This record gives sequence, C-alpha cells and structure tokens, in this order.
Amino acid sequence: MPVSLKSYNTFGIDHQCAELIEITDAAELPALIRSLDERDQSYFILGGGSNVVLTSDIDITVLKMANKGIEVFEDDVAWYLSVAAGENWHQLVSWTFEKQMPGLENLALIPGTVGAAPIQNIGAYGVELMDVCDWVEYLSLPDCVTVRLMASECRFDYRDSIFKHDLKGKAIITRVGLKLPKMWQPKLNYGPLAEFNTDTVTPEMIFERVIAVRSEKLPDPAKLGNAGSFFKNPIVDAVTFANIVKQYPDAVAYALEDGRMKLAAGWLIDKAGLKGFRLGDAGVHDKQALVLVNFGSASGEDILNLAKHVIDEVHHRFGVQLEAEPNVVGRFSLLNE
Ligand code: FAD
Ligand code: EPU
Repeated sequence: MPVSLKSYNTFGIDHQCAELIEITDAAELPALIRSLDERDQSYFILGGGSNVVLTSDIDITVLKMANKGIEVFEDDVAWYLSVAAGENWHQLVSWTFEKQMPGLENLALIPGTVGAAPIQNIGAYGVELMDVCDWVEYLSLPDCVTVRLMASECRFDYRDSIFKHDLKGKAIITRVGLKLPKMWQPKLNYGPLAEFNTDTVTPEMIFERVIAVRSEKLPDPAKLGNAGSFFKNPIVDAVTFANIVKQYPDAVAYALEDGRMKLAAGWLIDKAGLKGFRLGDAGVHDKQALVLVNFGSASGEDILNLAKHVIDEVHHRFGVQLEAEPNVVGRFSLLNE
C-alpha cells in the first residue's frame, strides 16, 4: 500500500513510496532482499531521512533501518563500540556521555542514524566520523554476504566515502564500529571552540557549546524542514582562490594540506545576496545561507529549482561550481549530479 514519506524526511516533503518496511533486525535482510529481487521490486535504504530530497512519488519499497543495539568492549587504550545502524546518532553521542566515554562531543546534535554516518563521513566542529570510526559492517548486494571494512578501507574524505562510489547501491550498512581513546584529547581548532583553554576544557563544555552553536544557527527540522547544509564547501586550487580574494578580500576559506582551499559555501551564497531569498515555499535560510528550507508546502522540485538558482548565481559571481550534499531521490535531479 502506498505510504506518505512526509514524516520520514526532515525536509517534510510529501511524496509516496510503494511500501515501507522497518528493519528492526538486520538478520531479516537477506530473505527480504531475495524476495524483493524475485518480484523485480526496486528498493531504497532510508535512515532518518535527514540527507535526502524526494522529488517525486517513487514506485519502490523503502527499507527503513531501525535495528538497535550498542555493545562495548574495552582495553587499556580505548573503548570499542559496535553500534547497530538504526540507532540515532545524537542519542548515541548522549549515551556515550552518560557512560563517561568522551570522544564524540564535537559531533553532537547531527540528525540521522548511525548507519548513514559513514556514507558521507559526517563531520562538524573539526571532527569527522573517520576520526573515530574503527570499521563498517555491511550486507553486500545483491549476494547478501556480510562484509566488514576497516576504516582505512572506506576511502573517507570530506563528505565522501567508498559508499558514495564503488559501493553506491551495493551495500546496506548494518553496524558501525567506533574507537574512543581513553586518553581524551580536546579538538578545539574550529571557530567557536577555539576560545576554550586546552588544559581546562572538559568534554561536557565542548558538548554543550556545540549544541548551543548548532541550535542557534541551524533550523530545527521539526519546525522548519531542511537537510542541513544543502551544498558542500567547494574546494578550489590556489590560483582560483587568489583571484577570488583579489576581488573579495573578506572571502572565508580554510587551507587544506595539499595547498588547495576549501571555500565557505555559506559565505559565497550570502555574498551573492541570496540569504533569505525565497522561491515560493522554498527558501535560503536567513541565519545560515548554506541551508535550504521548506516553509511548508515546497515540493522536492521547488527545492531543486531554488538550488539551481543558487548554483547559477554563485557560478556567475565567483566562477565556482557548487555541488549538492543531500541525496536526490525521484524523477528529477540536479543537472550537476
Ligand atoms: P538518510 O537521509 O536517511 O540517508 C542518506 C543516504 O544514506 C541515502 O542515500 C540513503 O539511501 C543512505 N543510507 C542511509 N542509511 C543507510 C544504511 N544503513 N546503509 C546504506 N545506505 C544508507 N551532516 C554532517 O555531516 N554534519 C552536520 O553537521 C550535519 N548537520 C545537519 C543538521 C541538520 C539540521 C540536518 C537536517 C542534517 C544535517 N546533516 C549533517 C546531514 C545528515 O544529518 C547526515 O548526512 C546524516 O548522516 C544522515 O543520516 P540519515 O540516517 O538521516 O540518512
Ligand atoms: N558564512 C557566512 N554567511 C552564512 C553562512 C556562513 O558568511 O550565511 C560564513 C561564516 O563566516 C562562517 C563560515 O561561512 O564562519 C562557515 O560557516 P559555518 O561555521 O556555519 O560552517 P559551514 O561551512 O557553513 C560546515 C558543515 C556543517 C557543519 C559546520 C560545523 C559543510 C557542507 N557543512 O558548515 O555540516 O555542521 O561546518 O562544522 O561542510 C551538514 O553537512 O549538513 C552540516 C550542517
């Protein structure tokens, strides 16, 4: 029976799928996949729906990852967590805090599931999943064999991993292994955390500051539909950056180890005069220009049209091509994907 996905995606876009099955036990997956394959029924894996844009009704089965469970092992150097894909990421971060296992504080309040975290190598406030990931376990498709990749094999990069390339559509992540060193080291290199003193800061102070800054800047999807940053921060070579700085000395960028520069896409969009810009019910957030929002009845197509306008304006003004971060699902897509 068709199911509305409105409450299953943080943009709050109202499109339907053919059926929705909650996966509470990953052991059910092989039989389920075989039966879907036998009737030629396509399927899509969904976590918390916080990084997808639905652009039409989809005649496919949605498998919503809802398997739960956290196991902890420890030795003298670290705590090792084995976490089911359907666990909520922020609840996991809070749980590790209650258990006095710091290390995830910079990644507090990121929506979505643990199973989706390796896909784009979630990151915030100077830490990425790759810094704490030990391994990723997945069911390979279509043969349904369980495979464990060590973090070093996942080709993690900025908002990127093997799951967006060679393993795209070929892996259902079922568990993620995390390693939290017992010798806790604060990570304070990102803007609002830099004012803390390395010697006196506690994990709780970072956890609370990250939550406060995020709550201030990013809209709560329960109140205003969004998928976090809609574009990746574009990486440009030193010459391109020098040309931009010549014209815009206040351009915001971070130097990468290889000499390239990561530009703040929010600054580019803001500088292009698009902060608060609205096309119908799709808008550029007025507190953080990197976030596109749904004021109520925007369709996925409306969001894409706004995204295309932003891409064109930024390209026209700075010669920089923006690339979407969320996964676009449905009949319509962005031209640069
Ligand atoms: P979904 O949106 O459900 O899925 C995303 C993609 O992963 C889809 O292609 C889906 O098919 C695939 N997928 C999901 N689960 C699995 C699985 N188990 N196996 C295989 N494929 C799977 N991201 C950051 O990196 N940093 C941030 O600071 C950040 N802030 C955000 C703030 C807000 C307010 C919002 C709404 C989003 C933010 N995001 C951020 C984006 C989002 O939280 C992450 O991308 C998150 O990992 C998505 O998790 P999800 O479970 O909702 O994935
Ligand atoms: N800026 C503006 N105007 C804006 C927005 C930003 O000028 O409207 C400038 C500010 O100068 C600011 C800089 O851009 O200093 C960077 O902004 P911010 O610190 O908010 O970070 P971001 O680059 O916009 C990235 C991630 C976020 C992550 C934060 C914190 C990407 C695509 N986004 O945002 O991740 O939470 O840093 O680490 O890398 C997400 O991926 O969904 C996400 C929210």
